[in-house]
Amino acid sequence: MGDDLASGFRDVDRAADFATFADCLTLVDSIPFFAACKRDSYGLLGAGPGRRILDVGCGLGDDASALARLAAPGGSAVGVDSSRAMIEAARARHGEVEGLTFEVADAAALPFDDASFDACRIDRVLQHVADPGPVVREMARVLRPGGVLVAYDNDWETLTVDAPDRATTRTVLNAWCDRFPSGWIGRRMVPLFLDAGLADVEAEPRTLVLRDLEPADRLYRFFATVDMLVESGTLGREDAERWSESLRAADRAGRFFCSYTGFLVRGTRPGEAPAGAAGEVAR
Ligand SMILES: C[S@@+](CC[C@H](N)C(=O)[O-])C[C@H]1O[C@@H](n2cnc3c(N)ncnc32)[C@H](O)[C@@H]1O
Repeated sequence: MGDDLASGFRDVDRAADFATFADCLTLVDSIPFFAACKRDSYGLLGAGPGRRILDVGCGLGDDASALARLAAPGGSAVGVDSSRAMIEAARARHGEVEGLTFEVADAAALPFDDASFDACRIDRVLQHVADPGPVVREMARVLRPGGVLVAYDNDWETLTVDAPDRATTRTVLNAWCDRFPSGWIGRRMVPLFLDAGLADVEAEPRTLVLRDLEPADRLYRFFATVDMLVESGTLGREDAERWSESLRAADRAGRFFCSYTGFLVRGTRPGEAPAGAAGEVAR
């Protein structure tokens, strides 16, 4: 399962096919729900002229690029990612954007001084980190007093799909959740922000409803998970086939329903903004 989307993002450079991961990011970006979450995260960060902003686990660099444009004139954005291939792709896509740089770095060991950013965001990365506490603490460290941290992430135990066989549905959805290094990160972020010393921590749920099987399966890999469970002997082939066909039948009848909830979380590093910092963050 080297190219499994649930477990493979923790080390993309070891994947057999980089395109599987790049295509997943492009798919997510094309869905209006995620585009709105991203725009709202820029607002929560207070992204604007003169700001110095960090995007951790920047992937293909599209958010870092948007933030650099918002920070102009006078500001800058840095995108970091542990994957060299992602950073190369980000540089190829956005190399010409003024005030934008990319670096290969692990989120738990950011190569920046304390208090060197006004704002920091992390988007669907913590779910791929087995021990996310040190990452949140590291992002808090590089924020100046008064600086803002915004994270968006999934809680995979909120994934629902309507199917008549409840036991098999639970088996499939739990297997998907548990293949992520941190499948419960959605509910864990508020306590982790508090543990990192952040103040004014607020979380907002965002629920995506999908009424078509095809995009839902591209995002949540129901059938690949079923195949994996059959292969491992966890699920009988007949139950698996019946369950898969129930999703297809619901889809044909226009009755398919699937949903999931992610959380947009914001916190502030306590303390006064130093003289010359851009001041209060707009909500
Ligand atoms: C699901 S992608 C999200 C990418 C981007 N934030 C976006 O919204 O498109 C997760 C990204 O986190 C990166 N990543 C995973 N573990 C990381 C770590 N420990 N440090 C830095 N980046 C990491 C992956 O290489 C991948 O680019």
